[in-house]
Amino acid sequence: MNTNIVHLYLQSLLFVLISLVPLLCFCLDTDTLTSNITFRDSDTIISGRHDFKLGFFSPENNTNRYLAVFYNVSEETAVWIANSDRPLNDSSGTVTFSRNGNLVLTNGRNETLWSTNATGTYPRNTNAQIQDNGNFVLRDTSTGTIIWESFAHPSNILLPTMRSTDNIYTGHKVVYSSWKNRSNPEPGSFTSGIVALNIPQIFIWNNGRPHWRSGPWNGMILSGVPDMYSPYLAAFSLWNDTTGTFYITPHETTFLMKYTLNSTGNIEQTMWNNRQMNWDVTWVAIENECDVYGACGPFGSCNIRDSPICSCTRGFEPINREEWESGNWTSGCARRRQLPCEQNNNTSGDKDRFLRLQFNKVPDFAEHFQSRNPDVCRTRCLSNCSCIAYAHDPYIGCMSWSEPLVDFQRFNSVGIDLFLRLEASELDNHSNRMHVIIIPVLVGFFVISFVIIIAWFWNKRKDKRFGPKTIAKDIKFLEAESAIVFKDETEKVNVEELPLFSFETLSNATYQFHDNYLLGRGGFGLVYKGCLDNGKVIAVKRLSATSGQGNEEFMNEVVVISKLQHRNLVRLIGCCVEGEEKMLIYEYMPNKSLDGCLFDPNHPSQKILDWKKRFNIIESIGRGLLYLHRDSRLKIIHRDLKPSNVLLDEDWNPKISDFGMARIFGGNEDFDNTSRVVGTYGYMAPEYAMEGRFSEKSDVYSFGVLMLEIISGKKNTHYYNKELSLSLLGCAWKLWNEENGLDFVDQTIESSNFEGEIVRCIHIALLCVQEFPNDRPSIQIVLSMLSHEIINLPMPKQPIFAEKWNRSHVGTGTTQRSSQVGYPCSNGLTITVLDGR
Ligand SMILES: *[C@@H]1O[C@H](CO)[C@@H](O)[C@H](O)[C@H]1NC(C)=O
Ligand SMILES: *[C@@H]1O[C@H](CO)[C@@H](O)[C@H](O)[C@H]1NC(C)=O
Ligand SMILES: *[C@@H]1O[C@H](CO)[C@@H](O)[C@H](O)[C@H]1NC(C)=O
Ligand SMILES: *[C@@H]1O[C@H](CO)[C@@H](O)[C@H](O)[C@H]1NC(C)=O
Ligand SMILES: *[C@@H]1O[C@H](CO)[C@@H](O)[C@H](O)[C@H]1NC(C)=O
Ligand SMILES: *[C@@H]1O[C@H](CO)[C@@H](O)[C@H](O)[C@H]1NC(C)=O
Ligand SMILES: *[C@@H]1O[C@H](CO)[C@@H](O)[C@H](O)[C@H]1NC(C)=O
Ligand SMILES: *[C@@H]1O[C@H](CO)[C@@H](O)[C@H](O)[C@H]1NC(C)=O
Ligand SMILES: *[C@@H]1O[C@H](CO)[C@@H](O)[C@H](O)[C@H]1NC(C)=O
Ligand SMILES: *[C@@H]1O[C@H](CO)[C@@H](O)[C@H](O)[C@H]1NC(C)=O
Ligand SMILES: *[C@@H]1O[C@H](CO)[C@@H](O)[C@H](O)[C@H]1NC(C)=O
Ligand SMILES: *[C@@H]1O[C@H](CO)[C@@H](O)[C@H](O)[C@H]1NC(C)=O
Repeated sequence: MNTNIVHLYLQSLLFVLISLVPLLCFCLDTDTLTSNITFRDSDTIISGRHDFKLGFFSPENNTNRYLAVFYNVSEETAVWIANSDRPLNDSSGTVTFSRNGNLVLTNGRNETLWSTNATGTYPRNTNAQIQDNGNFVLRDTSTGTIIWESFAHPSNILLPTMRSTDNIYTGHKVVYSSWKNRSNPEPGSFTSGIVALNIPQIFIWNNGRPHWRSGPWNGMILSGVPDMYSPYLAAFSLWNDTTGTFYITPHETTFLMKYTLNSTGNIEQTMWNNRQMNWDVTWVAIENECDVYGACGPFGSCNIRDSPICSCTRGFEPINREEWESGNWTSGCARRRQLPCEQNNNTSGDKDRFLRLQFNKVPDFAEHFQSRNPDVCRTRCLSNCSCIAYAHDPYIGCMSWSEPLVDFQRFNSVGIDLFLRLEASELDNHSNRMHVIIIPVLVGFFVISFVIIIAWFWNKRKDKRFGPKTIAKDIKFLEAESAIVFKDETEKVNVEELPLFSFETLSNATYQFHDNYLLGRGGFGLVYKGCLDNGKVIAVKRLSATSGQGNEEFMNEVVVISKLQHRNLVRLIGCCVEGEEKMLIYEYMPNKSLDGCLFDPNHPSQKILDWKKRFNIIESIGRGLLYLHRDSRLKIIHRDLKPSNVLLDEDWNPKISDFGMARIFGGNEDFDNTSRVVGTYGYMAPEYAMEGRFSEKSDVYSFGVLMLEIISGKKNTHYYNKELSLSLLGCAWKLWNEENGLDFVDQTIESSNFEGEIVRCIHIALLCVQEFPNDRPSIQIVLSMLSHEIINLPMPKQPIFAEKWNRSHVGTGTTQRSSQVGYPCSNGLTITVLDGR
């Protein structure tokens, strides 16, 4: 009897213990399954940083159960599913380890629904762990090697650090498959992955047929994705190993982010919003009809701004005009006239010409060879009869096409220039049509000339003194170039006022442009320190010879710029034009540029630049900018305001440099980069970076970024810089909102005397970096705010880049993930710096 009770007691104790075991395991935040536990429907394990869980999951409007990895914060979002094709219809699912170490999912009737099926047949000991990045791995416990991982068997989601791969020899790919629909995770008709042959690209396929294409990877970005040309959220890297396998992976991020191939065949990049507890879509692959693969058929170019969006390129006409006009563009266009070269297989270089198509996502099926020189691409293409078009990208090299051009589209202001081969007469043809335009222009020109001559005589009569040579200024508005000088009233400038230096003088002054006297590299040439015979110290900017501009135009514009006089602009004191050589002579600034002083921790000026000096710098730059925008006789938009373009004189007064110059020397459109949006990532306003639109308010944006940099002593980073991209704005926004603005401030200037002032400056800077130009104050208003003429400041809106980057960390009252994710907004943080050019 007694023994019986003891027995019973022991039994119930055992029962309690046994039922406690799962509880103990799973409530203690374990991230690992071991062979002595049985994992049931109600159990979960959680990753070390608590981001991901493994457990059983049911999609929306679906009662079936699936073994899955999902987010802790968003349990309805599964990033990986084991038994997507064999769901459980009840909660009887069990995960166990088989004798040979595989993980096995069985249902209540002991049928195997899924298995890792990776370990061979002999018995071994394994465990399975859910890692911080969401990878679920099976390890051999004796050796620690990973024998299976969920990242190698993806479902529809690509996570940071996950890889899409392609082996160019075996063709083995790791691809992503869409779900059938939002409540059915069975593989649907869409897949996505990388194709590495030739130039790597990312594809979405619909039942194996291309549906979307990213355009070639150029070493940094996917060249057919316009959003990637401006600062973007999360960078990718691509690399290969010796077996010929290529990998592409999104960099690790400090926020929760994923790419989902959804069931309608689109890729959505989404970020977790901690405040609203939902996913924000930050990018989609297929934004419009032009993004769909081959929307306009062979030789049809797509431009979403045109109506209709498809057009045949010059020298081509629709194959089926009726279909084309009814909006079915799939059959595309054909050449109006055969290339002579194609007709008689005879390379007739002279007869063929190239038509330049700007800003393209280049067509599919590019052949590729390395060359730094675009002329080489051209000659190679001309010498090969089957070459239809070529293009050149500084990072990719030459691309050429011998198959019909499919899936190319025109962007607004980014992309690659495509050169399409045409018979010479097709281009001439066009110029015939041009007469219709040219004749009125010529007539207009003569009328205007006549008026000017009359005016000149009139002037001469009025002013009998024979003044110095005068030229009429006519500075045009050219969109794709740098600093913009708006045309002013019919002003005449006086050429002789600007001192001309001889090449010899300058060469002697700089010791034959000796490297020891090199001060730096500006956007358009090298800058040397020099000393004139009279002892005056100067800075000489020697412009690279790529400017295709004539000497007279050059002089004309230099003279215009030399008229700008303001104590916060660097003064141009002369120039030199001799043959190919063009040089500009400036006053010398002993304290060099602001970026050295601000960002170099070992720079002696770190101590000198206290808050008073920094505030003076901010205010003075503002005044210089105001002069450019409205006080000078011209209206000038700088377009590239950044610390390296702000120079400091011996008293630490700032002077803006490089204004107006870039516009003159960026003129040659074949020069790398400059024909695109000019400026430096990180300082460019969103509307300018993304759409090429600019105004005074774009300068105000750059000024806001500059203010934040001066206050924090940290550089706003740039999109190649891994996950810290654009964090400065995000940090400022977050800390200011949390009323911790002082945490943002450079430690070397922290001073209790000016706290209010400093926080007010952050506030003003945030007003300057707002997304919409109309929200930003003009520079005049900014100055009034700085000087307290305007006392009450409006509330800023969240800056766009900060929003994308940082939305999940902002907010009041929500739990901060900061401790686990290493939030970068702290004073100790050093943001590594990569320059924008
Ligand atoms: C299961 O086995 C592991 C080692 O393989 C051990 O550390 C752990 O304590 C065991 N758990 C239980 C509940 O027995
Ligand atoms: C789930 O069902 C509800 C009600 O029928 C419907 O409103 C909702 O759109 C469904 N969700 C999905 C993803 O199908
Ligand atoms: C993860 O989920 C658990 C329970 O749902 C919760 O207590 C915990 O705070 C979550 N962790 C994070 C980092 O959100
Ligand atoms: C689950 O499916 C099995 C057949 O696969 C069936 O026998 C069983 O009744 C189903 N259970 C439920 C709860 O529907
Ligand atoms: C399930 O089947 C396996 C063999 O397939 C067997 O070893 C195991 O004992 C069975 N488990 C149950 C609970 O029936
Ligand atoms: C396991 O793999 C083998 C070959 O590697 C295959 O024949 C078998 O069907 C797989 N089993 C399961 C359950 O996937
Ligand atoms: C999803 O797909 C399944 C099977 O293909 C179908 O039965 C179901 O109705 C679909 N659900 C929706 C919401 O379309
Ligand atoms: C892969 O990269 C290596 C350099 O790491 C390079 O030498 C090799 O040619 C590449 N292989 C292929 C197939 O491109
Ligand atoms: C797929 O993504 C696109 C773009 O965000 C969206 O318009 C579409 O509704 C999504 N489809 C589904 C089924 O969620
Ligand atoms: C468009 O034209 C192609 C080729 O003639 C034809 O196969 C296709 O059905 C047409 N599509 C539509 C929507 O009319
Ligand atoms: C040119 O060469 C192609 C194949 O390369 C051939 O089919 C065609 O007949 C040739 N044309 C002439 C005119 O020789
Ligand atoms: C190639 O074309 C040139 C000029 O059109 C002609 O003089 C030459 O004879 C042609 N050569 C051949 C092989 O057809």
